Parts: sequence; structure tokens; C-alpha cells
Amino acid sequence: MAHPLISPSILSADFARLGEEVRAIDEAGADWIHVDVMDGHFVPNITIGPGVVKALRPHSTKTFDVHLMISPVDDFLEAFAEAGADIITVHPEAGPHLHRTVQRIKGLGKKAGVSLNPATPAKMLDYVIEDIDLVLVMSVNPGFGGQKFIASQLRKIEAIATQVSKKGLSVDIEVDGGIDAITARQAVDAGATVLVAGTAAFKGGPDHYAANIAALRGGE
Ligand code: DX5
Ligand code: ZN
Repeated sequence: MAHPLISPSILSADFARLGEEVRAIDEAGADWIHVDVMDGHFVPNITIGPGVVKALRPHSTKTFDVHLMISPVDDFLEAFAEAGADIITVHPEAGPHLHRTVQRIKGLGKKAGVSLNPATPAKMLDYVIEDIDLVLVMSVNPGFGGQKFIASQLRKIEAIATQVSKKGLSVDIEVDGGIDAITARQAVDAGATVLVAGTAAFKGGPDHYAANIAALRGGE
């Protein structure tokens, strides 16, 4: 399979030892660090805010891939940018003006991502795809780790990959939710370039992280 980047989701890390966990997954070969921010309103779970992102920043030099599942989202963009996010990804449903939100992220000097929930069509990207750096395809309904991969999202990944290549854009296609060695291959075959994995990356504890990441890459 093509060589995907691996972005482990710290949602599945030990929250009592988050700094050490970020360091361990970085040393195990993570390409990016995926940070899931949830507000108990946009999604039915609450995780962490910009203060924790800031505290984690010194623990890794890897790209902080910050997935905001909060609404309204605009008021928090600056705080996450200042905390050390490199990529800020938002959902179109998290505010009334997606184009403006994307421009704000770019204005903060950060890469901008747009995330599509399982029922949100790829069409939603039509008028922003040229302005963004990443599309995050949710292959579970956001809110929790450990859910089952929704196979219909493979078609969406294919459609986005076709659009990106037709237009000659350099936009990463990231997939998030239920990724294991098998669904990783399916997603990459469909056109995904970055894989988020929580459960599959952190299972078994730090001694297993390197092998977990290698398995997600395709076992090489
Ligand atoms: C879900 C989050 C995911 C999640 C993935 O709302 O966006 O990043 O942590 O976890 P797994 O890999 O366990 O499905
Ligand atoms: Zn996520």
C-alpha cells in the first residue's frame, strides 16, 4: 500500500500521564499527534482545551493535528493556534460561515482542515477545497474512541481523492475512526494519505506503540 502518515489520537492515551504518552508515541514513530477536542455540545463527550495542548507542546516537535469538535468554534481558533496547534480542523456544522472560519485559521498562520461527519456529503467541500490543507473524513460518528469503522466512508474518500487529483491540489485526506491494520489498508487504497488511530495505536501500552504504528503503516 502507499505510505500513509500515522496520526495517533491521544484520546486513547493514559490521560493521567499525557506528557509521557505523547513523548512515547512520538518516539515510537508517530508522524503527527492527533488531539481530539470535544465540548459536550457539538459531540456527546468532553476532553481537553487549549491549556492542555499548550502543556503538551514541549513534549514533541511533531505536527500537532488538532481536531476541534466544538461549537461555536470561531472564538477558540486563536487560543488553539497560540497553544501550539499546527493544523486546525473544524466541522462545517460548527459555525455558520465555514469559508470565514477557514480564512481565520489561515490568518493565524496555521494549516486548515475541514472534517466531514459520516452523513455529511463530500459536496460540502466544493467551495473551500482550494483553500484548505486537509480533509478529515470521519469514519465513525465523533465523540468516542473504539467505535466500528463505517465502510460507506470509503466511497467518500475516493470521491474526495478524485476531486483533489483532478484539480491538482495538494490536500491531505485523513481518515478518523475505527482504523486498524485492515481498515487502514482499505482507507489508503481509497486514497487516504493520513490515518488517525486511537485504540489501535495505544493498545498494550508503551512497549507496543512502535509495533502498533508499523502494523498501521502496512507492516513494513
Ligand atoms: C472520535 C475521534 C477519533 C477517535 C479515534 O471522535 O475524533 O480521533 O479518537 O479513535 P479510534 O481509533 O479508537 O476509533
Ligand atoms: Zn479526531
